[in-house]
Amino acid sequence: MIKFLPLRTNRIALFPLLALAACSSEPEAADLPYGTVQQMMANEVQPTADIYWGAVKFESRLEPDGAVVEEEFEPETDEEWAKLAEAARKMQRLAKDLQSDGYAEGRGEDWLVFANGLDEVSKKAEQAALDQDPDAVFEVGGTVYNVCSACHQMYPPAELEAAAGDAQSS
Ligand code: HEC
Repeated sequence: MIKFLPLRTNRIALFPLLALAACSSEPEAADLPYGTVQQMMANEVQPTADIYWGAVKFESRLEPDGAVVEEEFEPETDEEWAKLAEAARKMQRLAKDLQSDGYAEGRGEDWLVFANGLDEVSKKAEQAALDQDPDAVFEVGGTVYNVCSACHQMYPPAELEAAAGDAQSS
């Protein structure tokens, strides 16, 4: 179910799709601390993942003379690493909340498996941040992405569903 694709491909494929995410408002319930799943994803899960994915990254830049410059970014201060570890802890809490009745109700068993997978991988993510290991952060980031997309494949967000036909042919 969870496919391990080359990391860079994942990262490139992810952002344009998620950029399509739009907002809609639905009524809130008491057992849904972050609102609907859609609101929770848009307001909590995605921004938290962005902190994580943005921490260690590679960027290619085209110089005016045509040369391609590769740049690597990673946290530099203890404070930046701590922020990263905190994002990973927050993702663990969100993963637990996804397993609560409010969010899991009406879903299949696989929902719990995916949400638990997000918890597990976020623990690894926290460890990578605590170890201040940029390679591990990058690698675990790819696994985090695979867990997100595994769940989205079974429970497609409306915006991704429309694009699913295209995605499957690649
Ligand atoms: C346990 C299942 C599950 C996991 C794990 C999961 N998602 Fe989602 N996600 C959903 C569902 C279901 C929706 C569709 C919600 C809707 O449109 O009603 C969704 C929708 C989204 C959306 C669209 C929100 C919008 O504004 O419409 C984004 C962005 C998103 N998820 C990001 C992520 C990221 C990033 C991760 C991993 C860090 C992740 N999700 C992990 C189930 C999951």
